[in-house]
Amino acid sequence: MLGRKINTGLVAVAVASFSAFGAFAEDTVKVGLIMTMTGQQQRVGVQVVNAARLYIKQHGTTVAGKKIELIVRDDAGVPDNTKRIAQELIVNDKVVFLAGMGLTPLAMAVAPLVTEAKIPLVNMVAATSVITERSPYIVRVSFTLPQHSVAIAEWAAKNGSKRAVTLVSDYAPGVDAETFFKSRFKEGGGEIVDSLKVPLANPDFAPYLQRAKDAAPDTLFVFIPAGKAGTFAKQFIERGLDKSAIKLIGVADLTDDDDLNGMGDSMIGTVTSGNYSASHPSALNKAYVEAFKKEYGHRPNFISLGGYDGMHLIYEALKKTKGSTDGATLVNAMKGMAWESPRGPISIDPETRDVVQNIYIRRVEKVNGELYNTEFMTIEAMKDPGKTAKK
Ligand code: DHB
Repeated sequence: MLGRKINTGLVAVAVASFSAFGAFAEDTVKVGLIMTMTGQQQRVGVQVVNAARLYIKQHGTTVAGKKIELIVRDDAGVPDNTKRIAQELIVNDKVVFLAGMGLTPLAMAVAPLVTEAKIPLVNMVAATSVITERSPYIVRVSFTLPQHSVAIAEWAAKNGSKRAVTLVSDYAPGVDAETFFKSRFKEGGGEIVDSLKVPLANPDFAPYLQRAKDAAPDTLFVFIPAGKAGTFAKQFIERGLDKSAIKLIGVADLTDDDDLNGMGDSMIGTVTSGNYSASHPSALNKAYVEAFKKEYGHRPNFISLGGYDGMHLIYEALKKTKGSTDGATLVNAMKGMAWESPRGPISIDPETRDVVQNIYIRRVEKVNGELYNTEFMTIEAMKDPGKTAKK
């Protein structure tokens, strides 16, 4: 019995390779895209899957003589589901790539499986620094919280913020955001007057916003994952904080293009750091936004880029390996790969398999009647500070 053996967690399964089926099966390269398509993170799944499908539509389904087949599965944001679906995709569907991962705990759950199966996992969303260190088969195309957090901390310290409160979602990316914001802000001469952690599921921000208000900082730094910005803004405005002297800043998720127009004009002037804005001024991005809107009727956001660039990485890795589907060969092909994305130039750090990209400082402005994150400063080719800090 040839083939792959999965022996992780509760399941131990050995599978035949079905090589007797010959060329037909081997000419198809299956990509198992696991995203959160229902529940609180539903919009994250919509953005990534739409973008991945757009990439395939634009670039065709034949790559290096192979036919690409995208299999989309919904994990509802539950790690046990992600793990079970990943096992099914590896064992039953014999996917060549796994992709997706809408939240950090989901990526963590799948990491041991891809190590054992020797299958590349293209991480399209999850943004805690340590994820890529959990398996040599994980390659990230999204962003890391340390990338975004140090950029805004440095900007804030240089631009008048002296006393900050941090408010983050209480899970691993929130810890990264708080840790990296704090250390850079303090290095820049700032003081942290309070640090608040809000539950990830069904957050009620009101009591935390009251505490932030009571601490009387000049600045409130916020990280909440994509999909929650609308609720946050509503409660921020309800408590009158938009009219207070407290300056609201944050990472990309806070002024997510997916929610921004619905958040209202009170958000105008909010400064955030991010790897992508729908108004990024490049020809490639204009074409991306136009094609995306035409296809789906809504704006692409920073999360969508993981789906789009993730498919690009998969296509280019297959071209580079001339169609080889060996996992280690594919991961090696991805290392050091560089290309122009709608977000700007990006590459895969050959040492860490993490994304290297420009991080932009942006301000919410009204442009032609719509709210956009207008980029006004660029930190070029930033590596994940979560790794460079250790060197
Ligand atoms: C994570 C998920 C997100 O949707 C996001 O915007 C940032 C971080 C995460 O769980 O890693």
